[in-house]
Amino acid sequence: MYRLHHHIVPTSPNVLMLTSTFALLALALAAAAAPPVVVDKLPISLALTRRLKAGGSMKQLADTDRARARVLQSLGKGTSKTSKRSVFPVSLTNEVVSYSVSVGVGTPPTYHDLLLDTGSSLTWVGAITPYNETSSSVDIGEPLEAEYGAGTFTGRAFQDTVTLGNLVVQKQFIGVADPGTIMPDGLDGILGMGPTDLNADLSLDDPSPSPTVTDNAFAQGLLDTYEIGIQFHPTTSDNGTVDGMLTFGGTNSSALNGTITTVPLTSTTPSSSFVGIDQSITYGTSGATILESTAGITDTGTALILLASDAFRKYMKATGATMDDVETGLLKLPASQYDNLQSLFFNIGGQTFEFTKNAQIFPRSLNTDIGGDADSVYLIVGDLGTPSGEGLDFINGYAFMQRFYTVYNTQDSSFGIANTPFTFAEIN
Ligand SMILES: *[C@@H]1O[C@H](CO)[C@@H](O)[C@H](O)[C@H]1NC(C)=O
Ligand SMILES: *[C@@H]1O[C@H](CO)[C@@H](O)[C@H](O)[C@H]1NC(C)=O
Ligand SMILES: *[C@@H]1O[C@H](CO)[C@@H](O)[C@H](O)[C@H]1NC(C)=O
Ligand SMILES: *[C@@H]1O[C@H](CO)[C@@H](O)[C@H](O)[C@H]1NC(C)=O
Repeated sequence: MYRLHHHIVPTSPNVLMLTSTFALLALALAAAAAPPVVVDKLPISLALTRRLKAGGSMKQLADTDRARARVLQSLGKGTSKTSKRSVFPVSLTNEVVSYSVSVGVGTPPTYHDLLLDTGSSLTWVGAITPYNETSSSVDIGEPLEAEYGAGTFTGRAFQDTVTLGNLVVQKQFIGVADPGTIMPDGLDGILGMGPTDLNADLSLDDPSPSPTVTDNAFAQGLLDTYEIGIQFHPTTSDNGTVDGMLTFGGTNSSALNGTITTVPLTSTTPSSSFVGIDQSITYGTSGATILESTAGITDTGTALILLASDAFRKYMKATGATMDDVETGLLKLPASQYDNLQSLFFNIGGQTFEFTKNAQIFPRSLNTDIGGDADSVYLIVGDLGTPSGEGLDFINGYAFMQRFYTVYNTQDSSFGIANTPFTFAEIN
């Protein structure tokens, strides 16, 4: 993935208001009209399509995850005004796998395949399929610019109708890529599902954060609840298949195997700027502590499970894995040691979630795609690169979310997690 640095380019006469503090989510909600009271609306589900990257070694998997972690940490800490204002933590993916969702823009809608990202909150389109103005398009007349590693996103700000399944959201602030913007893997932009506060910099004449698609859907009375349910299926080598579901306004009980444990989002910074939670982790039947109870985040834009360096070293010692710096950048085990690997146990909200040994290994069918040997076993737990105690001590990326159903409710600041039929699956 790339880091996307988001700058508002002040080339137009409309001066953009940049705010140096994260406004509370409540501000954005207060500004929106109260949702009308209506009879039950069904949650709306959208298929997530898994895309495999074609060719090329992905040995920078852990590096790119760490690079994103650095951006998230500095953005959330807000110690640097510059980074808070100008860095926009988007995972344009150069991962082996990404998840996309088809989103309509305009009237009638033109559909765009967008990367699902819970770590950023701007929705933008047009890297491949051109955005053509329709009757619902309003050109805000502001340029947007974003740098992301290998390339630069430049575009313009619009307001338009955004269609997600049956959900038709009016007056959504979106970015529209200028011609020539390149997204990997045939993706056309990003669906920003993160907290509203991350859009503080997008505000034009209004310093409050620009509402996300979810905010507007709720404010416009299209959803009964503010919940977003995410279900990812474990990775296989099938490309372009429907491999998960994104549900707005509820959860999908048939995707669960058990009940949802709901916890408040963490209050610890910088994790609290994202989908942050508190958890502790133990390993194996001995219950050895890997990570003491601490704050971190769940993030669809990160591939691996990243642990603070001290916790990562404990995990390395417990598993006996060695660092494969040369080829994959991942922890490696001889295939013969796979049987000795034991489960990790994530303690969240007083409940224990088992992350099996099969869940801890990179899908073997894709070993060669990351530059590894077909016969080795690579682990999807990586080093965050910073010590614990800094307020963002782990990232549960999609390798984690492929084994659990997760639910975000940014309105009541809660996070939910449940086992799924994939929790104990032998699939990797
Ligand atoms: C997977 O599908 C996407 C979208 O069609 C395409 O860009 C990509 O090259 C495909 N990957 C492989 C490994 O075939
Ligand atoms: C959008 O505009 C481009 C360039 O004018 C055109 O080639 C394309 O067909 C249009 N797409 C749609 C969906 O109307
Ligand atoms: C709910 O999840 C099940 C199992 O994954 C899936 O078959 C079904 O399509 C989902 N339904 C909705 C409405 O998301
Ligand atoms: C569902 O959960 C039950 C109880 O934890 C477990 O015994 C069962 O194997 C699980 N089913 C699947 C398909 O994982």
